[in-house]
Formats: sequence, structure tokens, C-alpha cells
Amino acid sequence: MTNSTAPYLHKVTVRTHPDIALIKYWGKKNKALRLPANGSLSVVLEALHTTTTVEFDLSLTADQVQIGGQVEAGEVSRASQHLQRVRELAKDKGLLNQDIFARVVSQNNFPTSTGLSSSSSGFAALSIAASRALGLELTERELSILARQGSGSACRCVCAGFVEWLDGNNSENSYAVSIAPPDLLPLRDLVVIVSEDKKQLSSSAGHDLAESSPFFVTRQERIGHKLVTLKQALLARDFGRLGELAEAEALEFHSILLTSQPSVLLLYPGTVAVMHLVHRLRKAGTPVFFTINTGFNIHVLTLAEHEQHVRQQLEQLSEVQQVIVSGVAGGPEMLNEHLF
Ligand code: DP6
Repeated sequence: MTNSTAPYLHKVTVRTHPDIALIKYWGKKNKALRLPANGSLSVVLEALHTTTTVEFDLSLTADQVQIGGQVEAGEVSRASQHLQRVRELAKDKGLLNQDIFARVVSQNNFPTSTGLSSSSSGFAALSIAASRALGLELTERELSILARQGSGSACRCVCAGFVEWLDGNNSENSYAVSIAPPDLLPLRDLVVIVSEDKKQLSSSAGHDLAESSPFFVTRQERIGHKLVTLKQALLARDFGRLGELAEAEALEFHSILLTSQPSVLLLYPGTVAVMHLVHRLRKAGTPVFFTINTGFNIHVLTLAEHEQHVRQQLEQLSEVQQVIVSGVAGGPEMLNEHLF
């Protein structure tokens, strides 16, 4: 059988952007549904992107998933579980009455599994492309809820600009919304690659350890206030305050990692060298701050007018392999050129 017997099946290609959290999602209150322990706030990054093509095909007997030219069993299984969520949604809406499998090809323009949140853009892209490929017309909120179940941070990457994930207490009210457009601030994220090693700990495994840190309870007590304060600084375009809060949050997050049982030490000497440089530049008067996810690569935040100076300084560090400069992205884009 070919797809001509199922005219609602389309080949769809979408481009999404990963984000960098200024207030981190760390720990889950419901693992199966990926309900986060707390709300989070992020910026979607224009220079980094994931492109994904999905086509459902009646002749396939299993999902075929290729990411970055590789077919890796763990990734295929996680993507296939997500495709099943999309199939179930299509069945609920009367668009499908049998399981039809999909061919998925996905590519990132940045190093994968190095702590640059490839799962955030990856599952956002898969959610959008797969749902459209089955003829589903989901709202941004529905897409966010769907993407969240593939990877929590992906719920933010279906949105544009500066994004807040409302933590919620059930699947229907845990989703992300855009709180400000990309041009709110001339923010630049200098994504500093100090290594392309594959990271030792997946974020999913890391979330399970969060509660083992004695500081996790304190974090939870303070996080609501922190979110409100950072949001206020953002909406007031107060970059100095925003950066200060984001850097303190990154250090708190890594303190939780370091004090988890077992301890998780992800920072490389190069990461720490960049942290010191940021502090030196700040002392000398440049508004510049850092944040880090579950990896060794580090995000250096500044304003457009200081981008060149900060970049030059970063590139002088022997530990720095590459600096990718990013502005703030708009939302996902549909592409007419497909990957297969
Ligand atoms: C440190 O969204 O990758 O980047 O839901 O298990 O897929 P899963 O986790 P994931 O965790 C991201 C953690 C973080 C912080 C953040 O992006 O908010």
C-alpha cells in the first residue's frame, strides 16, 4: 500500500531552536508525564537549530529514526514512544484507525549530547512535524503539552522568544507560553564549546538525582520568588539584574548536581576558565554573565554592543574550541525542502 490511499498523510519538515534556561527545570514531580518540580524560564536560540522531516508510510512495519546520520537504539526507542503519543492523538481525533509507522530524519547544526539541549529542539520538532504529518492541527498549547512528554524542555521550544513553562499539576496545565518577543532585549548568547565529548549523564537520569541533594528542598522553597524576580527584570529590560539572577541560578543548579548522591561533576577546566573570564570582564565593566546546563559547554550572555569584545576575549582562551553567537529566535519554521 502507498500513501496515495491515505491522502491526509503528508511529508513535513520543520526547523526548531533549542533554548537555554535562565531558571532551570530540575527534578520532576511526575516522571511519566514529565511534570516539573518547578516552573522555568528560557530563551530560544536563533543560531542553533534542529531540522526534522517526518513521513508516515503505510508500507513500514516499524518506525525508522535517523538522527545526525546515526541510528541509535535508545534514541529510536524514545522517538518511537513519542510517535506513538502522536498516533494516539490522531486516533482520538478520528484521523487514524490503525498504527502507521513513520520515517524520521533529524539533523542539528550544533554538537549533540554535549549539554546544548538537543532534546529540547529535537522533541519540539518531532511533535510539530509528526502531528502535522498525520493531519493534526494542534494549537501552540497542545503542541507544548505533547512536546513536554517527549522531553520536558521541549515544551518551551514550540514557542518564540522568551518563554515560561508554567509547571502545573496535571498534564493539561503544564505547558509553556511566550512571555516576550525576541526583540525585547538585544541579548546575545555566546555559546562556548570547550569540548565535544559526549556528556556522562543524560538530563533524564540527572532529574532522578535532584532530590538526593540536601539543598534541593531549599531550592524549591525559593524558586517561586526567583522566577517572579527574574521575570520582572526581563520585562523591565534590566539586563544587569537578569544576568545576575541567571548566573546565580546556574551556580545553584550546579551546586545541586555536585551535592547529589552520587555527586555529578560536569564542569571541565575549560568551563571554569570561561567562568573566571566572565568575572574578570564584569569587574572591568562589561555586562556579561554565564549560565550552564547539564554539560561542560557554557553560555555567555551579554548585550549586542559588547558581543565583539566578549567574543575576542573568549577566543583567546586556549580551552575554547568554538564560539557560536546567537540572538533570540522566533518560533518554529515550516520548511519546503525535506531531508529525504
Ligand atoms: C538542565 O528537558 O532534557 O537543561 O524531560 O528528562 O528530557 P527530560 O529533561 P530535559 O532537562 C533539561 C534540564 C536543564 C534545564 C532546563 O533546560 O530547564
